[in-house]
Amino acid sequence: MDNFTFYSPTYFVFGKGKENETGHYVRRFGGSKVLIHYGGGSVVRSGLLDRVKASLDKEGISYIELGGVKPNPRSGLVYQGIELCKKEGVDFVLAVGGGSTIDSSKAIAMGAVYDGDFWDFYAGRAAAERALPVASVLTIAAAGSEGSDGSVITNEDGMYKRPYGSEVIRPVFAVMNPELTMTLPPYQTASGCTDIMAHVFERYFTNTRNVEITDRFCEAVLKTIIKELPKVLEDPNDYEARANIMWAGTMAHNDICGVGREQDWASHNLEHELSALYDCAHGAGLAVMFPAWMTYVMPHDVNRFAQFAVRVWGCEMDFEHPEETAKEGIARTKAFFHSIGMPTSFAELGAKEEDIPKLLDTLQIDGRTEGFFVKLGRKECEEVYRLACR
Ligand code: NZQ
Ligand code: ZN
Repeated sequence: MDNFTFYSPTYFVFGKGKENETGHYVRRFGGSKVLIHYGGGSVVRSGLLDRVKASLDKEGISYIELGGVKPNPRSGLVYQGIELCKKEGVDFVLAVGGGSTIDSSKAIAMGAVYDGDFWDFYAGRAAAERALPVASVLTIAAAGSEGSDGSVITNEDGMYKRPYGSEVIRPVFAVMNPELTMTLPPYQTASGCTDIMAHVFERYFTNTRNVEITDRFCEAVLKTIIKELPKVLEDPNDYEARANIMWAGTMAHNDICGVGREQDWASHNLEHELSALYDCAHGAGLAVMFPAWMTYVMPHDVNRFAQFAVRVWGCEMDFEHPEETAKEGIARTKAFFHSIGMPTSFAELGAKEEDIPKLLDTLQIDGRTEGFFVKLGRKECEEVYRLACR
């Protein structure tokens, strides 16, 4: 196991009706003038936004609103949010929605106290030294942004997506009521669960030896999704299944599954170019990329893939031919994505093979590599994209 530090100070407020306590927690974490940031309207239609506002009113906390965050959040709205925060003296950013809204909120929170262009952080030109406090009322189990130090924004000038991570944007609290996820369309539920599984895959496939504790955490999260997701697709109002999935989403990405080991992240970065170019759901893009990546890198560590097949999918170990077991685990992963309605090829996603050079260009892969389990240069990334076309 590698040396590590782990500091994940988000205060989680989990359960039925908890959104009505949002105002209390904003006050507790020092907010007095809040920017409420939200997406394309699901929180308006469900009445959630009104309940959150009522809880702020109850605490006498003033607020302004900025809606309109699109999935794969755009730089343009971030600039608007920053302007608004500076003009109105906002001291707290509250995201009401999913990963896109939370990520946009995090970008605004950094930009509001920075003299330069917020894109400096995402472009690797500067490190954020501070940010306004950010919190969320989560409405979808997926990105794990409610407990992560990351944010992913699409730059509209060129339509490419970049991640940024810093402790200053880890949310101070997250309100998580599984009931709020019951209005999600099945496709979004499945896409969110694919993202949750992908966050575990990025950590599970590692070159670090003897990390049994985090292997077992990873397997627990994966098995939970495999068991609970079909229940929710059958009955969207299954509270217990929704609750298990929601907490699994946080555990998958607050790094409890990743400490003490080298992580990969090539598949995520290859996917980000897909969701930037085609505006597809991030999870759907991952359902296409992961089986392809797994197929490409499996020979690097057949035993790890065989372990995955046996422990996660219950495959029988073929001791004579472990690569057959490994292949079966990958096939089961792909079949599961199919069974939950996810695309597993470029064509099913609406992506085009002839766009691969464009994807590689926006990935800016020349002269560097992606991933750590197996380091992928331009040629190798291209091969993974080509495998995803089959
Ligand atoms: O915009 P509204 O109207 O709210 O609709 C959203 C959106 O269309 C809808 N939705 C959310 N909750 C709902 C709901 N519809 C009905 N009922 C509800 N309860 O779902 C759609 C997707 O929302 P979005 O916020 O985009 O989903 P998700 O949480 O999957 O976030 C995806 C974004 O997160 C980034 C991805 O790249 C992508 O841009 N990621 C962020 C990470 C992080 N910050 O740590 C890590 C991830 O790997 C990921 O890259
Ligand atoms: Zn993800």
